[in-house]
Amino acid sequence: MSELNLILLGPPGAGKGTQAERLTDDFNLPYIATGNILRKAVADETELGKQAKGFMDDGKLVPDEVITGVILEALENADARDGFILDGFPRTVPQAEALAEGMNANGRELTAVILVDVPDEVVVKRMSGRRVSVKTGRVYHVDFDPPKHEGRCDVDGSRLVQREDDKPETVAKRLAVYHEQTEPLIGYYEDQGLLRRFDGTRSPTEVHDHIRATIATLRLEDEL
Ligand code: AP5
Repeated sequence: MSELNLILLGPPGAGKGTQAERLTDDFNLPYIATGNILRKAVADETELGKQAKGFMDDGKLVPDEVITGVILEALENADARDGFILDGFPRTVPQAEALAEGMNANGRELTAVILVDVPDEVVVKRMSGRRVSVKTGRVYHVDFDPPKHEGRCDVDGSRLVQREDDKPETVAKRLAVYHEQTEPLIGYYEDQGLLRRFDGTRSPTEVHDHIRATIATLRLEDEL
């Protein structure tokens, strides 16, 4: 069976991370999320983190050259050789071109690009209620996906916090950046026949069921 190389695309707060958690379990794939990699680098005060922090706090994208090498390297790690779920990359057309070039050079190709689509007003509501575990990174929402015990992660009881870039003024900027720089990727991948659209306004379980069924079908088609 060939590799399952998936990209999750969509506006901030669409539910990409929420779906990725479920899909990694379904298909036993490594999850590579640029946001998580960058937030860890900032917390650890690495060189990458120092370069990225100002852009992230401001709701802007970090420069293509800062993130592209990190991701291409991650895709060649042993655990990602048989497939991956990539979330948050590419976010610009030059990033998509670099990804295609890097994968082609290694004889690999994308299986599908999963677009989780939600309108801006839904994004704003979701971001204001999002809480994230400081230890596990597990994502919750105070109303739509609450933890069993308020302020504590279900997995290990660690503290839940609000992300720095979830403040309303930063969310508005992130949405503007998404529309301007990332949305062109929808047409880019549609032209290549790779795009699969999902209505992200449905419940997390419904969105998950639809995506899982689509991926399972892609796998079956691949085996025929
Ligand atoms: P990143 O962490 O990738 O942020 P993002 O793409 O803006 O995505 P989010 O993590 O905000 O949202 P999500 O879609 O994963 O939603 P979630 O599942 O949490 O990037 C952060 C920053 O890093 C960027 O701004 C940039 O500066 C930098 N960066 C990253 N990649 C880069 C790149 N390639 N190039 C340059 N810079 C880069 O869900 C949101 C909330 O909604 C949660 O509370 C969840 O519980 C709830 N929820 C989820 N699904 C549903 C549902 N179906 N119904 C109701 N509630 C739901």
